[in-house]
Amino acid sequence: MDSRPIGVFDSGLGGLTCVAELMKVLPDEDIVYFGDTARVPYGTRSRNTIIEYAQQDAAFIRKKGVKLMIAACGTVSSALGDVDISGGLPFTGVVEPAAAEAVIAAENGIIGVIGTAATIASGAYEASIKRIFPDIKVYSQACPLFVPLVENGFTDKNDIVVKEIVRRYLEPIKASGADVLIMGCTHYPHLADAIADMLGDVKLISSGAAAARYAKRLIIEGSMQSGRSGHGKISCYTSDSAEKFRENAALFFGNGFDGTVDRITIEELVKT
Ligand code: DGL
Repeated sequence: MDSRPIGVFDSGLGGLTCVAELMKVLPDEDIVYFGDTARVPYGTRSRNTIIEYAQQDAAFIRKKGVKLMIAACGTVSSALGDVDISGGLPFTGVVEPAAAEAVIAAENGIIGVIGTAATIASGAYEASIKRIFPDIKVYSQACPLFVPLVENGFTDKNDIVVKEIVRRYLEPIKASGADVLIMGCTHYPHLADAIADMLGDVKLISSGAAAARYAKRLIIEGSMQSGRSGHGKISCYTSDSAEKFRENAALFFGNGFDGTVDRITIEELVKT
């Protein structure tokens, strides 16, 4: 038994898609979340900058006394390579868990991957899929406008702007014949309805949710369950407005969000 919280971080609101799945599969665990909303997006930045930010985010999360850490950010997960930000804690990013689920789900051997510019340029999802199953065909597409859409609350599938941007980015994926799509950036499930409308019966894999399911395995295998019953606490930290974060989180969770939200400035963050 281990009553310490699970630590999750992302560049912004995207990692909440991982938190939502954690709340489903590990309801009695406490969660500490950091969303770096003052510096989002990460996906347009260089690998060095992404790694520097990830190291600062991870150091902050570790200081919260967590038992396991999830980089719920496709951009960070695919930039890391051999860089170890775990500080010795059990750790997962989102790439490997999502790739593993996609390989199992792909019936026709064709997988689509969407992500930020940095994620797609890294080739991390494709490499991970091919390590498991070399013959699978992978079609990748960067969708750089999706993160700003989500961070600004543009997620309604009937919104004409949302519809058009989704159509433009996903047309090549549709044409590829993929029957599975990895939403390789954790922000993208916020647009899942619009994506599903465009792609029809393609199976959508949320990378953040896949990481949460993998984290559950790590917790069970390591006998690290909280041992409590009932709902765990969600404590969120954000580097920009706590109010705006709370509004967006409430929008995403509906009535299900009763966590705390506190601001930590970038100056405080880089000191940790
Ligand atoms: N949620 C992050 C990801 O998974 C968003 C990236 C960004 O900040 O550009 O890639």
